[in-house]
Amino acid sequence: MYRLSFTIALLLVLLPVMSQSPHGDDLKMDCAECHTPDSWTLNFETLQFDHGTTKFELEGSHEVTDCKACHTDLTFKDTSTDCISCHLDVHNQSVGNDCMRCHNSDSWLVFNIPELHEQNGFPLIGAHTNLGCIECHDSASTLVFRPLGNECIECHRDDYMATTNPNHAISGFSTDCIECHSPFGIGWDAEGIIHDFFPLTLGHDIQNCTECHTNGDFTNTPTDCFACHSDDYIATTNPNHQTANFPTDCASCHSTNPGWMPATFDHDGMYFPIYSGAHEGEWNDCIDCHINTNNYSVFTCITCHEKNDMNDEHEGVSGYVYESNACFACHPNPN
Ligand code: HEC
Ligand code: HEC
Ligand code: HEC
Ligand code: HEC
Ligand code: HEC
Ligand code: HEC
Ligand code: HEC
Ligand code: HEC
Ligand code: HEC
Ligand code: HEC
Ligand code: HEC
Ligand code: HEC
Ligand code: HEC
Repeated sequence: MYRLSFTIALLLVLLPVMSQSPHGDDLKMDCAECHTPDSWTLNFETLQFDHGTTKFELEGSHEVTDCKACHTDLTFKDTSTDCISCHLDVHNQSVGNDCMRCHNSDSWLVFNIPELHEQNGFPLIGAHTNLGCIECHDSASTLVFRPLGNECIECHRDDYMATTNPNHAISGFSTDCIECHSPFGIGWDAEGIIHDFFPLTLGHDIQNCTECHTNGDFTNTPTDCFACHSDDYIATTNPNHQTANFPTDCASCHSTNPGWMPATFDHDGMYFPIYSGAHEGEWNDCIDCHINTNNYSVFTCITCHEKNDMNDEHEGVSGYVYESNACFACHPNPN
């Protein structure tokens, strides 16, 4: 009953004014979608009209915004959906017209500041994590974010010029700071120094820089192993590198593994298989075969291969003698 009388009442009220609709001829909707008989003023409680059926969904604070704040002439037509057509660009064109990159209609607060900086190729990491915006965006107080440039030198030229320990300019250091200073570092000190041009791994993982950079001089440091390790080379006994005539290019056999072990050494390819074949794992030191470490061309087989056994093994083998050079001559490649 209530429903029927309501509709009748509404029709009675509306019929006379149909022709007076302020909404223009294009609005083909039932007046009751929006109005009640009580008043022409809109009541959000009884409103049936769903704004989601238009091309512009009302979200966030727009849901509670007065229709007339957006639809000034009540024809509802030709209302622009671009944020900037209704909202002042407080940033004075410094971030472009696409407000939705940073804003939505909930509030003007911005929550994607870290992502924004990543997208701009300047993640706020390391020393830059917790700085106030104004430290970099010196016009941020006026909400203008003028382009700063991402290069470290743009903001740290004075720091570079002021360095004394070491003096960067005199040392001829690059102004591309991240060649040496990690962007993850929290200061300019040694902690954050990148040393990829000469990786400080394993035996070179040394905190005291002056072990290699004598007197704190970072320039002209040799990279050649022998330049820093000639004493180690000369002192070797097992094997004695000098008498073995090893090249001084340490890196051809060594990594920076502590204790210089293990070394890669192509003994098998060049001389006699010891890392493969019958002797793999059957010896402990080079000296097991090379009894004279002053001369690696001297070697023994018979310290291990006993005479009686060998004589038995070689019964009937013509030319057999129990002597190391002879063994090697007939067995250059036991496997
Ligand atoms: C999509 C919703 C909607 C529909 C449908 C609608 N109106 Fe309105 N109408 C409004 C809004 C919004 C206002 C402004 C209300 C306010 O001021 O609070 C309004 C105001 C009015 C006013 C008062 C004008 C004034 O200047 O205060 C009249 C009269 C009116 N509408 C008539 C109609 C008639 C007649 C129909 C049906 C043909 C109709 N409306 C359909 C939304 C609608
Ligand atoms: C925050 C701004 C905003 C508010 C508030 C708003 N609208 Fe809209 N409305 C728009 C925009 C923008 C469009 C245009 C979408 C499009 O291009 O069709 C639109 C479209 C419409 C249309 C369709 C017009 C057409 O020609 O297709 C109607 C009807 C309408 N609004 C009614 C209302 C009513 C009624 C209210 C209040 C309950 C309201 N709007 C509140 C922004 C708003
Ligand atoms: C058709 C006009 C119109 C469009 C388009 C529009 N808005 Fe609005 N918006 C308004 C009006 C009117 C208000 C309420 C009055 C005010 O606070 O400015 C409002 C309110 C807001 C608020 C709340 C402001 C506050 O102080 O609480 C935010 C945030 C907002 N809009 C963001 C947006 C964003 C983001 C877009 C683009 C996606 C957008 N608006 C598109 C008209 C519009
Ligand atoms: C690149 C990101 C970005 C874009 C794009 C952007 N804004 Fe902002 N906007 C901000 C930041 C950051 C703030 C400061 C708010 C904060 O600190 O949370 C802000 C604040 C605002 C405020 C609030 C000002 C105040 O006094 O508090 C308004 C209004 C605003 N923006 C409007 C816009 C409009 C309109 C557009 C599109 C023309 C737009 N913004 C585009 C980042 C952006
Ligand atoms: C350590 C310096 C630094 C700090 C601190 C910093 N920014 Fe930035 N910001 C930058 C740099 C660099 C860019 C890259 C764009 C450029 O060259 O200006 C940038 C870009 C932006 C942009 C523009 C993004 C775009 O896509 O258009 C906004 C907005 C912004 N920052 C807001 C902030 C806000 C808000 C804060 C504080 C929460 C902040 N920034 C803190 C250095 C900084
Ligand atoms: C847009 C300006 C800006 C850019 C670009 C920038 N910085 Fe900064 N940086 C700052 C500001 C501002 C501070 C805080 C004030 C200060 O300590 O100088 C800071 C602080 C630092 C600090 C800490 C200094 C200290 O004494 O604790 C380091 C380290 C640093 N930045 C390294 C870098 C590196 C590396 C780059 C390049 C990847 C870089 N910065 C690019 C603005 C910038
Ligand atoms: C070739 C490598 C290298 C480059 C490139 C480099 N630095 Fe350094 N920087 C160092 C070393 C090494 C130290 C000393 C670290 C330690 O032992 O404390 C240092 C220390 C510093 C210090 C603190 C020392 C002092 O005297 O104040 C500042 C500030 C500094 N660097 C700024 C910069 C800036 C700014 C850039 C880029 C414009 C830069 N550096 C580029 C290697 C480099
Ligand atoms: C194991 C030896 C070794 C240690 C330890 C070492 N460095 Fe180096 N460093 C080198 C060598 C070798 C070079 C030369 C690389 C080249 O020229 O390619 C070098 C180059 C540098 C350079 C570049 C100088 C230039 O002119 O470009 C800087 C800066 C540097 N080291 C800083 C450090 C700092 C800071 C430490 C301590 C944290 C350190 N190094 C520890 C061996 C070392
Ligand atoms: C032809 C390969 C080869 C070259 C080149 C080489 N080494 Fe070695 N080095 C070895 C072998 C094999 C060992 C023994 C490793 C094992 O027992 O596992 C060794 C062991 C060492 C040892 C430990 C043994 C001892 O007696 O102290 C030192 C130190 C050493 N090498 C220094 C150097 C230095 C310094 C250079 C370069 C100047 C160098 N080596 C070049 C093959 C080589
Ligand atoms: C700029 C000087 C420098 C250069 C170049 C250098 N080293 Fe070193 N190296 C050191 C210093 C200093 C140590 C630590 C002190 C020590 O053990 O001799 C060290 C340690 C080592 C160790 C560990 C020694 C142990 O007893 O545990 C190995 C292995 C080593 N270096 C191999 C190499 C190889 C291979 C090269 C060539 C690719 C090389 N080094 C180039 C300075 C250098
Ligand atoms: C199981 C026996 C055996 C072991 C263990 C062994 N070698 Fe040899 N090595 C030989 C034989 C056999 C030759 C070949 C001699 C020849 O060609 O004149 C040889 C050749 C060499 C030569 C070449 C000598 C020259 O002047 O032609 C060097 C250097 C050498 N070995 C170093 C080593 C080192 C270093 C070790 C320890 C890592 C080692 N050897 C372990 C058997 C051994
Ligand atoms: C450190 C002790 C040791 C030395 C030195 C040694 N060998 Fe051996 N050799 C062994 C052992 C252990 C085996 C495996 C067990 C076996 O067959 O007797 C072996 C096996 C062999 C075999 C048999 C391979 C097979 O097919 O079964 C031959 C051939 C051989 N050695 C030759 C030599 C020659 C040649 C030398 C000198 C250049 C030599 N060995 C030096 C310990 C040694
Ligand atoms: C004139 C060449 C010759 C000489 C010298 C020689 N051998 Fe042999 N050796 C042989 C022949 C041939 C065999 C039997 C072949 C076979 O059955 O594979 C053999 C068998 C062996 C075997 C048994 C291998 C197996 O495959 O069962 C060993 C171990 C061995 N010799 C080690 C030595 C040692 C150690 C010496 C030095 C003391 C030596 N040989 C000297 C030719 C020689």
